[in-house]
Amino acid sequence: MTKVTVLGAAGQIGSPLSLLLKMSPLVSELSLYDIVHAPGVAIDLNHIDTASKVSGFLPADDGLTKALTGSELVVIPAGIARKPGMTRDDLFKINAGVIRDLAAAIAKTCPTAFVLIITNPVNSTLPIAVETLKKAGVYNPAKVFGVTTLDVVRGSTFVAQALGDPDPKKYKVPVVGGHSGATILPLFSQAKPAVTLTEKKRDEITYRVQFGGDEIVQAKAGAGSATTCMAYAGFRFISALLKAKSGEKSVIEETYLYLPGIPGGKEIATDLGVDYFAVPVEFGPAGAVKAYPVGALSDYEQKLLKIAVDELKGNISKGVTFATTA
Ligand code: NAD
Ligand code: LMR
Repeated sequence: MTKVTVLGAAGQIGSPLSLLLKMSPLVSELSLYDIVHAPGVAIDLNHIDTASKVSGFLPADDGLTKALTGSELVVIPAGIARKPGMTRDDLFKINAGVIRDLAAAIAKTCPTAFVLIITNPVNSTLPIAVETLKKAGVYNPAKVFGVTTLDVVRGSTFVAQALGDPDPKKYKVPVVGGHSGATILPLFSQAKPAVTLTEKKRDEITYRVQFGGDEIVQAKAGAGSATTCMAYAGFRFISALLKAKSGEKSVIEETYLYLPGIPGGKEIATDLGVDYFAVPVEFGPAGAVKAYPVGALSDYEQKLLKIAVDELKGNISKGVTFATTA
């Protein structure tokens, strides 16, 4: 049983994610923090007949410290989201400082908690969180992750649609790399069960996984980006971590992380030429226990991997530079 804190809990992801967490028997206590509305969201959730107790906090009266005290898992969807015409990198200006400040508060109040970053641009915000925790001397590589589960969810969904199969959950498609455009690399050649796609279909669904976020941003026409599917994906990742924490074996999910800190990760980082990359990761009670390499790639995927790594390098160094010099 675990106390979970959501930072940015009154937002379009924070609210539905908090609902899912309130429904989970793995969460004993839920703490919500936002610069607006969090106490109201908490009271609303407290009318639900599940056992966990929900508390809501604002910045006043040291609310952030109160929200984080005793927390074992902190998930962060705080910050701003895209509007049409924006890239995820355009969010850096605002969200970089938000993540640095929230990570510094975590370092002070609940330094041993799992820290999950949803806030974009994840390619850069995770390095900011890692560097901030390192600076405070509390960084544990086994517990700090960028949430890329939505890309994995899209991989299953879009391949099932392409095949005309009504059951997306039947398909597991590893999605590695980062979390924006060409840095996202779905590996349909490794789909389980194996799938046969024409080149045209493969190109189409690869593009859809890479740029699926844009579909939603455009359709919402200024009202935001992916929210409910992200809440679902975030909850799936948190549930996996909590199941592993409670002793379940063989829990593996892709996540974007600092590879050199994890068994198996150093070799992958050397091989790829980047320290941060999403790969399949096995989790145990204390967090990540093993990072798995990207495996055998098709020629097509090999070309996309090079593009992904080249773009990711700039995103990573932007985050590291911000956190170490700002
Ligand atoms: P939103 O604007 O609806 O919600 C963000 C919330 O953060 C707001 O309630 C706001 O008040 C709060 N906030 C802002 N600054 C804060 C601070 N310093 N401390 C605490 N709370 C603060 O946005 P959203 O749609 O919920 O998206 C949130 C973030 O998640 C965006 O950056 C978006 O790009 C990102 N996102 C990531 C993924 C992913 O796959 N990782 C998917 C979708 C969206
Ligand atoms: C997504 O993948 O949908 C999110 O990262 C939100 C966005 O800005 O596209």
